[in-house]
Amino acid sequence: MTMRHFLSTQDWSRPELDALLAQAAQFKRHRSGTALAGKSIALLFFNPSMRTRTSFELGAFQLGGHAIVLQPGKDAWPIEFESGTVMDGEAEEHVAEVARVLSRYVDLIAVRAFPKFQDWTVDREDRVIHAFARHASVPVINMETITHPMQELAHILALQQHFGCADLRGRKYVLTWTYHPKPLNTAVANSALQIATRFGMDVTLLCPNRDYLLDARYMEFARRNVAENGGSLTLSHDPQEAYRGAHVVYAKSWGALPYFGRWADEKPIRDAHRHFIVDEAKMALTDHAVFSHCLPLRRNVKATDAVMDSPACIAIDEAENRLHVQKAVMARLVEGRDS
Ligand code: CP
Repeated sequence: MTMRHFLSTQDWSRPELDALLAQAAQFKRHRSGTALAGKSIALLFFNPSMRTRTSFELGAFQLGGHAIVLQPGKDAWPIEFESGTVMDGEAEEHVAEVARVLSRYVDLIAVRAFPKFQDWTVDREDRVIHAFARHASVPVINMETITHPMQELAHILALQQHFGCADLRGRKYVLTWTYHPKPLNTAVANSALQIATRFGMDVTLLCPNRDYLLDARYMEFARRNVAENGGSLTLSHDPQEAYRGAHVVYAKSWGALPYFGRWADEKPIRDAHRHFIVDEAKMALTDHAVFSHCLPLRRNVKATDAVMDSPACIAIDEAENRLHVQKAVMARLVEGRDS
């Protein structure tokens, strides 16, 4: 097998994703294993984390491997990503050296690198993780950049286990924007849109107005996924209409892309849509929908206490699944290199 990175679920076929989810379900039943015995993974965090760091470190340990956490610019040297630049700024070394040196030490490299939130035309190129993938000679895993593929797999596993069925076609899936005091990353929204359409659900993207549409790349992935897998994609700005008859409500806040870098101008629009909060009244419009969120979540801003504490909320199951799906991905990538 040739070396594969795990940068986006769109790079992996449905049968490959199905196999990863089946393996993750297996790891959920039997946590310990030897799939990573003698192997190691470097976890590079350019941004904070609670779930991702804990579940990757623990997952490697439970499969007999070892994880090393590095925070460039904090406990590791700041890194330069521009090619051909005169490095007379903050960065002490170039990704060309970092990725190649780490590849001599470890079997996998995982990267979390959020957008800089200044210029979407720059951020949408996802340069940090692509630079690692280009220079590394070991598989690179996306721990959230402008998509969050590990969250996607954990989310789908949670839905499959909730509904007791691997086939999610025919379910009405609402991806709802919610208010947050800060403009947040579109990564989880991009991911939810692409994985929900990939699994053939009838997806409604609910957001305040067209400024909150996701990047054209992910809107196009979603349309292509619908063409290939069935299901549908609908846009709504009306919570009542969107929630009616839903089987899944997935919430996320994100900043409007046309306002990238001038967030003060976006703030009044966001502030005017606090009522997009997921609450009991909206959930009552659904067809007994489950609710989930990637976490972290600000209670009574994105979703009410009543929704978070209701039996409909599967956010904790989804968070747990991060551990299982990441073990499946690490095992698959290492196996791919060994065979
Ligand atoms: N959902 C998620 O990635 O959580 P962390 O940001 O805590 O890792």
